[in-house]
Amino acid sequence: MKLGRNDACWCGSGKKYKNCHADFDERIQDYKRQGHIVPDHSIIKNKAQIEAIRESAKINVAVLDYVAENIREGMTTEEINQLVDSKTRELGGIPAPLGYEGFPKSVCTSINEQVCHGIPSEHDVLKDGDIVNVDVSTIYNGYYSDSSRMFCIGNVSEEKMTLVRETKNAIEAGLKEVKPWGFLGDMGQAVNDYAKAHGYTVVEELGGHGVGIHFHEEPFVSHVTKRGEEMLMVPGMIFTIEPMINMGKRDIFIDEKNGWTIYTEDGKPSAQWEVMVLITEDGYEILSW
Ligand code: MF3
Ligand code: CO
Repeated sequence: MKLGRNDACWCGSGKKYKNCHADFDERIQDYKRQGHIVPDHSIIKNKAQIEAIRESAKINVAVLDYVAENIREGMTTEEINQLVDSKTRELGGIPAPLGYEGFPKSVCTSINEQVCHGIPSEHDVLKDGDIVNVDVSTIYNGYYSDSSRMFCIGNVSEEKMTLVRETKNAIEAGLKEVKPWGFLGDMGQAVNDYAKAHGYTVVEELGGHGVGIHFHEEPFVSHVTKRGEEMLMVPGMIFTIEPMINMGKRDIFIDEKNGWTIYTEDGKPSAQWEVMVLITEDGYEILSW
């Protein structure tokens, strides 16, 4: 059944459709007719949802700030897990990873050649020269947020420091392409081009994702796609950009024993940052980083 122009808008704003998302839907349909992948209504957030997700993201940022203040050489990744778990709960949130598809801890901690989904352990001690990704995800009042940062422990080699810095810069390059009525492929190509120009490779099998109402929503956000391809970006979409960038080859494998942790095939280091963005009327807003 088609929504009448005087009916209440599907977004839940309470406004009439014609005064709310009618023109927006027309514009999306034009792209669809041209053969582009377009977002479904279910992943477009309204004002109230955006406000709620923004509050969740504030906690996510505060938890990462707390990790940044406390992370140090000699600490185990289980201690990071405890920092994240206690800070998240103190702020009224729930750590989203805990129990997610059976994940056993409240945060992912991935060291050196671990690409992502490292499981905190009392046996893994942060040592001088390590680079570690801490990936924090929060549920607050039922709304999800997700972002991650890299931390350098003690004296890190120039080579690894550069990987960490340029991985962040690759996201900045991608963000230049993030705007309404552009395509996710514009961003993906920018990230990949930037990484390649610095002699690195980008992991293809894993990527970012829509987020907010659920932990992982449509679309899958690849960092190796081509300009003009992939989903159309429209105001109200919220997704992560989280490239995993390898110093060596792009190939990866999964730890068969725990079923989670991803490693580089060649054993060389990998870095990842994760930013959570909202597409606005005229660009984007970073919700969590
Ligand atoms: N935080 C990860 C992401 O960026 C998801 C990890 S799933 C978990 O999407 F179960 F390991 F937490
Ligand atoms: Co994510």
